[in-house]
Amino acid sequence: MTELAQQIEAIRAEWGKRLLILGHHYQRASVVAHADETGDSLELARKSGEYGDAERIVFCGVHFMAESADMLSRSEQSVYMPETGAGCPMADMADAGAMAAAWQVLDERGGDWLPVVYVNSTAVIKALCGQNGGLCCTSSNAAKAFQWVLDQGKRIFFLPDEHLGANTAYDLGIADSEVAIYDPRQPQGGLSDETIASAKVIVWKGFCLVHKAFSVEQISQVRDRLPEAKIIVHPESPKEVVRLCDAHGSTAQIIDYVNAAQEGETIVIGTELNLVQRLAEKHRGRLNIKALKPSVCANMAKTNERNLLELLQSWPAAAEIRVDAEVAAEARLSLERMLAL
Ligand code: 13P
Ligand code: SF4
Repeated sequence: MTELAQQIEAIRAEWGKRLLILGHHYQRASVVAHADETGDSLELARKSGEYGDAERIVFCGVHFMAESADMLSRSEQSVYMPETGAGCPMADMADAGAMAAAWQVLDERGGDWLPVVYVNSTAVIKALCGQNGGLCCTSSNAAKAFQWVLDQGKRIFFLPDEHLGANTAYDLGIADSEVAIYDPRQPQGGLSDETIASAKVIVWKGFCLVHKAFSVEQISQVRDRLPEAKIIVHPESPKEVVRLCDAHGSTAQIIDYVNAAQEGETIVIGTELNLVQRLAEKHRGRLNIKALKPSVCANMAKTNERNLLELLQSWPAAAEIRVDAEVAAEARLSLERMLAL
């Protein structure tokens, strides 16, 4: 164990159950090694509310995840990030003013819409969603969230990831012609009144660079070079890519897919590299696991053993993540509707 690792473990031992360290699956291995719980964003959102003894929760992930942990934990618990500058560029592609303008456009043209907001969004966006009767989703439960809206006879306004939105609509049998893309930089999202009238789903034009890096050409190359390989990608990947794969799923679903694979199988995975490497390591000798393309989330990578240790040693107030109480109350509505699914 490195000296940094030893110091972190000594502090964890001293704090015992009063300290909870959560690590997203995309964190580097040296950080995951210190986590009490690892998981995808849905699992970690749930865990943050489950550890009643923890006085301090350290979230090793990106900013929106720590905000969710703050909103779902008890008010006496404090949530910290080792590196508060670790954001999610996709979450920042939807700001409150632009969402409110879009909502007004849709409301004036039908009023039968409900927002579905990917957890990869700011607390303010989640609050607007909660205020307007909508719910959050993760890539694990997006189909359930869409169905929740459809069952009420409503149409879906999804943000901020165009690709998860389009892929989820397709999974539910909704035709591409019924899915429209709202571009917040264009007047009325770049959509005509006719397009809005005929759409069943409107998706925000946001994306994740890490998953947008996967392409149809990469899939063709794998099919040529490794015809026996199974290919699975995260649904933040473009729909043209997802449709050529053997499977697609959230981080947790990719892990389950790999765990269930038969000995000797080759699996090519299109998601963040740290998770692919961890799976390859875990199944070494049993499975042949490869990355579709090495693609790293630069923001997830901002957390490391050094800033984790510094946080545990000094607990600076600036490292605490606290969502404004009014925003949190409304955002919690959309998170709780998701957790109740
Ligand atoms: P999960 O919901 O699968 O954890 O994904 C979060 C994320 O940021 C994917 O890029
Ligand atoms: Fe955001 Fe993409 Fe990084 Fe996930 S992988 S945190 S969506 S930038």
